[in-house]
Amino acid sequence: MMSAPFYDVNLSYEDNYERGPFGDFAHIDAHSEEQAEGSEIHPTFNFFGYALNSPFGIPAGPLLNEHFTTAALRSGFDIATYKTVRSRAWGCNPFPNVLSVHPTTVDGTLTPDSPQTQEGLLADTDFGVPGKISISNSFGVPSQDPDVWQPDMKKAIERARERRGQFLLASFQGSRTSDMSEEQYIADHVTTARLAVETGAKVLEMNTSCPNEGKGRLLCHNPELVGRITEAVKNEIGDIPLIIKLAFMHDDDAVRIMMENTVLHQTVQGFSTINTISSKLVDAHGNQALPGVGRETSGVCGAAIKPAGLEMVERVIRVQHRLGINDSRFGVIGVGGVTSVTDYKQYRALGAIAVMSATSAMWNAGLGTQVRAAEHDMMLEHIS
Ligand SMILES: Cc1cc2nc3c(=O)[nH]c(=O)nc-3n(C[C@H](O)[C@H](O)[C@H](O)COP(=O)(O)O)c2cc1C
Repeated sequence: MMSAPFYDVNLSYEDNYERGPFGDFAHIDAHSEEQAEGSEIHPTFNFFGYALNSPFGIPAGPLLNEHFTTAALRSGFDIATYKTVRSRAWGCNPFPNVLSVHPTTVDGTLTPDSPQTQEGLLADTDFGVPGKISISNSFGVPSQDPDVWQPDMKKAIERARERRGQFLLASFQGSRTSDMSEEQYIADHVTTARLAVETGAKVLEMNTSCPNEGKGRLLCHNPELVGRITEAVKNEIGDIPLIIKLAFMHDDDAVRIMMENTVLHQTVQGFSTINTISSKLVDAHGNQALPGVGRETSGVCGAAIKPAGLEMVERVIRVQHRLGINDSRFGVIGVGGVTSVTDYKQYRALGAIAVMSATSAMWNAGLGTQVRAAEHDMMLEHIS
């Protein structure tokens, strides 16, 4: 089932926040939900101690508030991630925030090493066929003030809790301003985590991988600092599992160092990977595609980045096993280019404990029920 996206790319972030969700998410009420379920509900999958109908959902990003998260759960996505929040109100980059991108590699994929990421990738408004869509998203991780997002996140969690086998994951990140010391930056993460826990969040995801904050300035490229931040955050949140969201990493060593600074200290229980791949974007004339200073490059996601996502998940699990980290202490969530049940199964076959889809899910509200039905069929095959 393909339809208009639940996040309307022709509208501003603010309009989406106020008026969304759109497409099939706009009409999902109790009656259509019953039809959408498509299969019986069996909460048998363990997600950091919580039982899910399927280990599949929507990652941090397109679910802007409770209206979006509840619609996602009703549509059959069993994990709904509330878009990354901050300790303070933070403005969104100017419109447009989403463009379609067109990698020219033979198979249409894009890795961080693809020459096009440096030379320029065509970006326009020709979104083409749902299921094959790759986009660039350039939001700058906007956030409402905690006075707004805290009651809304609380409501989102309560709605999720009323439902069997479904879960609301809370995403947050620190905010760095030019006048901030490193200690203040660490403290900002702790404050934001505490604000999220106050809403009732039971698992937290900390974003360390946003490419829109300046090229080469991803927090996850500084594992020592991530280690200090996660230690401080864990001291604040206690037993609540902490996941960190990571960008693609080129070699096993980088992943090993990150694990040594986090998982081995028992401050982090999961990695969610990958975030978008940073690329230079150009229009049909070769000019900068997104208006404004600092927007020469932007993060690419969707179908094109699946090979990079799979590679990273494989790498994380290889390093996990090499370091002797037990599956009960750590899990990886596979993200990147998931457009179908087949893609979902590929990530699961590598050992991902859960899988998420952002771009493709935006255009395909039925993806959650498709995955759930596939898991149900596999369970029946297993029994017979
Ligand atoms: C519209 C949109 C907004 C996003 N915003 C965030 C965000 O706020 N925080 C975050 O950690 N990732 C964000 N992401 C990245 C996704 O969580 C995901 O890592 C990435 O899109 C790759 O998955 P995909 O190929 O299924 O889109 C966003 C993605 C999209 C499409």
